[in-house]
Amino acid sequence: MDVLLPRSLEEALEMKAARPEGLPIAGGTDVMVELNFDRHRPEAMIDVSRLPELGRWRRENGSFVLGSGVTYARIMREIPDLLPLAQASRTVGSPQIRNRATVGGNLGTASPAGDALPVLAAYDAEVILGRAGGQSRSLPWNEFLLGVKRTAMEPTELILGTRWKMVRGPGSFSKIGTRNAMVISVAGLCLVLDEERRAVRVALGSVAPTVIRASDAEAFAGAALQETGVWDGPPSRSALPAGVIEEFGRRVAAAARPIDDVVDLGPERPGRCRRGAVTVLVRSNVNGEWREADVWPGSSLLSLLRDHLGLAGSKNACEQGECGSCSVWLDGELVCACLVLAAQAHERDVRTIESLGIGDGLDPVQEAFVEAGAVQCGFCTPGLVVAVSHLLSENPAPSDDLVREALSGNLCRCTGYQKILDAVRLAGARIRGERP
Ligand SMILES: Cc1cc2nc3c(=O)[nH]c(=O)nc-3n(C[C@H](O)[C@H](O)[C@H](O)COP(=O)(O)OP(=O)(O)OC[C@H]3O[C@@H](n4cnc5c(N)ncnc54)[C@H](O)[C@@H]3O)c2cc1C
Ligand code: FES
Ligand code: FES
Repeated sequence: MDVLLPRSLEEALEMKAARPEGLPIAGGTDVMVELNFDRHRPEAMIDVSRLPELGRWRRENGSFVLGSGVTYARIMREIPDLLPLAQASRTVGSPQIRNRATVGGNLGTASPAGDALPVLAAYDAEVILGRAGGQSRSLPWNEFLLGVKRTAMEPTELILGTRWKMVRGPGSFSKIGTRNAMVISVAGLCLVLDEERRAVRVALGSVAPTVIRASDAEAFAGAALQETGVWDGPPSRSALPAGVIEEFGRRVAAAARPIDDVVDLGPERPGRCRRGAVTVLVRSNVNGEWREADVWPGSSLLSLLRDHLGLAGSKNACEQGECGSCSVWLDGELVCACLVLAAQAHERDVRTIESLGIGDGLDPVQEAFVEAGAVQCGFCTPGLVVAVSHLLSENPAPSDDLVREALSGNLCRCTGYQKILDAVRLAGARIRGERP
């Protein structure tokens, strides 16, 4: 397996033209799970996470253009006024996942459960695809998404981004799952009111082989709002005749084609390939010191740290981004090391749990964990300490809700969460100088 590290979009597109079999990797939150579990062995990988051209967004002549490399964390931080997209982003995985995962990756995976996709469908977005030689084309979202994990992208193309006409009017995204955080949607819905065209748009995720629009419900709601004159005044539930909202709900539900019925599973997975002996040289600044190692090209950053650099503090408990035991900082951002391709950390700064502590002593967060009794078997502790240190460095006085949110990507199998909360409060008080 080869790992290609283009430095510009042009270079990446040329690489894709020369190696159409090369699998692009952006945040890696889907790709790395496939690699870690030996489900996919691409012949080559192309790291698109460092391409500045894909990491931009802009408003342009009444349209919004979102680069494929923009992460969910950045959407929440930088464009919260795009409410449905910001709300959808907020529901994706955990802070560690959102710091890496991109909308382009959501499109590339084309899962019916992709949370950005109902929003793009409700916005009537088009997907911009590029290829070498400066060529590009745009496809409406419903011509790009062909089925479960199937898209209309050609092997020589990359997803450059998406673009949609800005809509005037309120909108929202809702998701139903089996728990509050870190959950794949059972159903997702994006509702947008287009005041200019006096239209209602409803897109559904996870209820059919691809994202769908509930056209019948849209037409019904648009007409009902027109009749009541709601478009001319502020939206109000009381302005609608009895039964309209219930009928709208029935029509939305009728649009669903449950995934249980899905027979279209896309192309067959290729058989497992034997791991080649070929390696790549990865050189990273780890805890302030340049370190390098020859690793198998599909290795994760976690494997680089643990198996090659002897830094066993970051734990391997799931290899699929679910537990946060492997949390580290990559260029200052909290990430799951198991979901970062080792080569993606080439020439970048990595900080691990081993960087904490003062001399031979513990740092305030570590001390607080011990004092509060937040350590049982201790397997989750390094990841939690890293996540808590990250949180307190950004906000030394977080509310309990914020702490829960920040730690939603860290699981403790011994379920000592109350003590962990106590430890965060204690460490915060010490950092603020309120407790000895
Ligand atoms: C623990 C966990 C929780 C998750 N929770 C959610 C969730 O709540 N909601 C949700 O929607 N998803 C979730 N996911 C899935 C994943 O995070 C999303 O699908 C994410 O958007 C993928 O983005 P990425 O940048 O990590 O993609 P990658 O893994 O890098 O790539 C995904 C696919 O897109 C292709 N690709 C990426 N960029 C490009 C490009 N520029 N051009 C062409 N192809 C490209 C890749 O080749 C690959 O096929 C979760 C994943 C994990 C591990
Ligand atoms: S999240 Fe990386 S090992 Fe569990
Ligand atoms: S202390 Fe055992 S997993 Fe958390």
